[in-house]
Amino acid sequence: MASKIIILVLHIFIFSESLPARAQTLIKVGYWDSGDGFPISDVNFALFTHLMCGFADVNSTTYELSLSPSDEEQFSNFTDTVKIKNPSITTLLSIGGGNNPNYSTYSSMSASSSSRKSFIDSSIKIARLYGFQGLDLSWNSANTSRDKYNIGILFKEWRAAVDLEARNNSSQSQLILTAKVAHSPLSTAAAYPVDSIRQYLNWVHVMTTGYSKPTWKNFTGAHAALYDPNSVSNTEYGITEWIEEGLSADKLVLCLPFYGFAWTLVKPEDNGIGAAATGPALYDDGLVTYKEIKNHIKNYGPNVQLMYNSTYVVNYCSIGKIWFGFDDVEAVRVKVSYAKEKKLRGYYVWEVSYDHYWMLSRAAAEEDNKNRQNKRLLWAIVLPITAACILLIGFLLYYCCWMKNLKLKAKASKDSANSQADAGDFNRTDPDLREYSLADIEAATDRLSIENKLGEGGYGPVYKGVLPDGQIIAVKKLSKTSTQGFEEFKNEVMLTAKLQHLNLIRVLGFCIDTQEHMLIYEYMPKRSLDYFLFGILISKQTQSNCWKHRLYPPEYVEKGGITPTKSDVLQSFGGFASKIISGRRLSFDMAYELWKDGKGMELMDSSLDDTHSSWKLLTCLQVALLCVQENPNNRPSILEISSMLENENTADIMTPKKPASFSNKACEDEQNKATIGLEICSSNEVTISQLVGR
Ligand SMILES: *[C@@H]1O[C@H](CO)[C@@H](O)[C@H](O)[C@H]1NC(C)=O
Ligand SMILES: *[C@@H]1O[C@H](CO)[C@@H](O)[C@H](O)[C@H]1NC(C)=O
Ligand SMILES: *[C@@H]1O[C@H](CO)[C@@H](O)[C@H](O)[C@H]1NC(C)=O
Ligand SMILES: *[C@@H]1O[C@H](CO)[C@@H](O)[C@H](O)[C@H]1NC(C)=O
Ligand SMILES: *[C@@H]1O[C@H](CO)[C@@H](O)[C@H](O)[C@H]1NC(C)=O
Ligand SMILES: *[C@@H]1O[C@H](CO)[C@@H](O)[C@H](O)[C@H]1NC(C)=O
Ligand SMILES: *[C@@H]1O[C@H](CO)[C@@H](O)[C@H](O)[C@H]1NC(C)=O
Ligand SMILES: *[C@@H]1O[C@H](CO)[C@@H](O)[C@H](O)[C@H]1NC(C)=O
Repeated sequence: MASKIIILVLHIFIFSESLPARAQTLIKVGYWDSGDGFPISDVNFALFTHLMCGFADVNSTTYELSLSPSDEEQFSNFTDTVKIKNPSITTLLSIGGGNNPNYSTYSSMSASSSSRKSFIDSSIKIARLYGFQGLDLSWNSANTSRDKYNIGILFKEWRAAVDLEARNNSSQSQLILTAKVAHSPLSTAAAYPVDSIRQYLNWVHVMTTGYSKPTWKNFTGAHAALYDPNSVSNTEYGITEWIEEGLSADKLVLCLPFYGFAWTLVKPEDNGIGAAATGPALYDDGLVTYKEIKNHIKNYGPNVQLMYNSTYVVNYCSIGKIWFGFDDVEAVRVKVSYAKEKKLRGYYVWEVSYDHYWMLSRAAAEEDNKNRQNKRLLWAIVLPITAACILLIGFLLYYCCWMKNLKLKAKASKDSANSQADAGDFNRTDPDLREYSLADIEAATDRLSIENKLGEGGYGPVYKGVLPDGQIIAVKKLSKTSTQGFEEFKNEVMLTAKLQHLNLIRVLGFCIDTQEHMLIYEYMPKRSLDYFLFGILISKQTQSNCWKHRLYPPEYVEKGGITPTKSDVLQSFGGFASKIISGRRLSFDMAYELWKDGKGMELMDSSLDDTHSSWKLLTCLQVALLCVQENPNNRPSILEISSMLENENTADIMTPKKPASFSNKACEDEQNKATIGLEICSSNEVTISQLVGR
């Protein structure tokens, strides 16, 4: 059992060990734009898993991917730098995300298979040439259903091409294909067919941003609201739509906009979310990077109150008439935990150069780590507790079983040797005994015919009978010569009936007639004890139990539950034990003499399996002889006998003195009188019990 528990705990440990590895980790994509003048080498490479190099464009006449000479140098530098700084980062070349890509060019490119092929083949060529591991379409102006359909076709052909390309050269892995898509599949622009995305793209960057437009002059909040109680223009709504349209969450990558909007308030004091504004501030479109916002706040002084609204999941503040709505650390953390909770593929940062000392990138990565660390921490706590509980329960079960066994053993040993214990059974309620009429018994036993006579016991003959219901019974008729009167008879009935035990014959009832007193027992269709003692052999299973019988002497019956005198019990036991080990009726004097001369083994029944371990049998004989010593004061107590028989240390056993000189007949009578309790010899397999007919 203990070994099973240990194995179970081991499995829990193995299971938990594999958990952090299996737990989804967010991909952390950073868009880098060569046009920002931010050197790629300045990126904090520890905070991203993927970096997007932007932006390649499409040649308006050839529809091939076109790179300006300066781009060529930068893109080459990009992949080289990332490989050196953090080779585990995956690099992708992003297309169409720069300033004002020509709508007509992209629309036309996607409209015909030849232009698509030009685009596709050139994109693969350039990706391989500069060492990119993937390609990303960041063109988000596909605003007609024809555009969206064509782009869906493009995805399909693009995938087929990269698939073929990878098969052509087994030494390089297939290019990753991704695209930027609208915040919702129902959006006007960049809402590409879900089926195409699902089948042909590795994932999509969802534009969960830009819900408020600078033209909405009186709306100042939630430019990238995660939740918006007043509008469907929010991240939660869009992500849910994509998933409901059939895109699995692990194809969706959430946008973390590292920018916000600046608005000019109508009244500086009215500066909550939704306060009236006259229009964008600072720039024409009001778009302002996180870095710039932080610098504005810093330059203004320490009195700027930074706010966070958890309804929308947005940060905001106002400086004079300028109101800033943006995602600060709080909003970023909530969005990352949302991405984890929704089991999205990850998040992407638009753009890495907008961050302020990597505050937002770090907050995002930490939030992702924190979740995983929490999980690990949880397991670190839960696991030992679980293991400890299992061990404890296991131990308790084991302990209880052990204690129960111990008690059973103790009880068994008590039962076997101490007839006083049986007296305790007298406190039980009167057993359910049936009184049979003489007519019943005569019918069952064919009028106590000689054919049905099983034998003759100390109290009288015993008959086999069959009741009308088919039950086979043994009827013990009290001999007329018996001195037992009605009271004694009643005592015997009650005593025997109360001594119900697995190993004892069950008393079913009694029959009292003017002439006869009869006890009705369950008939056990097994061999009699005598048969086992003096016929076949004693089976290995039975031998060890045989001499640990319940027994009680006649006085016990006659006096009705009064503790029997020690001598009679002991003599009965001694006689009985010696009978078993010798396999014959034995003169105690002879047994004593042989034992004294060290020839005890000559007495032993050769069929006993224990003969090879003679000390056991000699111990039994020794104990038996102790029981029949002439001086009753020398005889051991029942408990001592029990202890001697159970204890393997034979050195402690006393040396028996001369046995009492009583005749074998007397001895037999003693034994026979005790037969009510001596009828059983039990074992795990066989119960050899029989109403003794002697
Ligand atoms: C487009 O490709 C053509 C043909 O190769 C070339 O002449 C032209 O300069 C390219 N245009 C741009 C904007 O790179
Ligand atoms: C290329 O990267 C290195 C550092 O990795 C930098 O020193 C160099 O200026 C970069 N060149 C360009 C053209 O960006
Ligand atoms: C935009 O693309 C179309 C078709 O590719 C082309 O005819 C047009 O000249 C391009 N416009 C500019 C400004 O490059
Ligand atoms: C699609 O977008 C382009 C460029 O943004 C614009 O010129 C055109 O009118 C739009 N078409 C529709 C149907 O919205
Ligand atoms: C694949 O290899 C074959 C022959 O080597 C070549 O003709 C074909 O252009 C290659 N295709 C790609 C997509 O690289
Ligand atoms: C296969 O890929 C490896 C590694 O990218 C490259 O060195 C090699 O030239 C390619 N072979 C072909 C036949 O394209
Ligand atoms: C905001 O603009 C809308 C539409 O122009 C207008 O109906 C509403 O009254 C304006 N709200 C405020 C507070 O100016
Ligand atoms: C967020 O802003 C809205 C609009 O002003 C307001 O109703 C709501 O109570 C705010 N929630 C929190 C948590 O500040």
